[in-house]
Amino acid sequence: MKIFLDTANLGEIRSCVELGVVDGVTTNPSLLARETGSWRQTLQAICEAVPGPVSAEVVAEEFAGMIREAHDLASIAPNIVVKIAMSREGVRVIHALSKEGIRTNATLVFSPSQALLVAKAGAGYVSPFIGRIDDVSNDGLEVLRQIIEIYDMQDFDTEILAASIRHPMHVVEAARAGAHVATMPVAVFDALFRHPLTEKGIQLFLDDWKKVEARGRED
Ligand code: E4P
Repeated sequence: MKIFLDTANLGEIRSCVELGVVDGVTTNPSLLARETGSWRQTLQAICEAVPGPVSAEVVAEEFAGMIREAHDLASIAPNIVVKIAMSREGVRVIHALSKEGIRTNATLVFSPSQALLVAKAGAGYVSPFIGRIDDVSNDGLEVLRQIIEIYDMQDFDTEILAASIRHPMHVVEAARAGAHVATMPVAVFDALFRHPLTEKGIQLFLDDWKKVEARGRED
């Protein structure tokens, strides 16, 4: 499963990418609103810093405007993936862009039926928002599993990108279910590294090694 960072913060992205396990980035208007300066320059810099796809979202709501914004975003860098929100017009735009060879990420997907439509339209990625589904007392991981089952059964090429991830178990369960990608905030990415027994074990080894070194000095 690929790991994407769900942030538009360049400093965070650079410090995680250098670890060698980050495959891409997802942004959205809310994430870009948290940053300062020009959104275009921010996206350009992210695209240069990241070895894989960088999702950037259109905000127009009608067909012509979405297509215009999609072309503009795609011109920023070759690794831009254009995010299109789920809607009737959105599905039409995904279909048109896929015919042009522009990669898309169908976002704000909350149900298997929506996922079915965007795959048929030719989306490069489908982003079920599992955390936001949990937030309204439904089971986001169960929706993710249903989408994976349908895509396997129907042999769709669209990659399944588990989004709106809130904690490490979302990541683990997305991997177990067979999601192609999980996108996560840096706080969740950082939590994947940690285990109290690892920290305790390192401290024990360091303390014991001091004893070994002290013995060496006695020789
Ligand atoms: C990513 O593509 C989504 O925009 C993001 O994961 C949404 O996450 P949120 O529900 O925490 O805002």
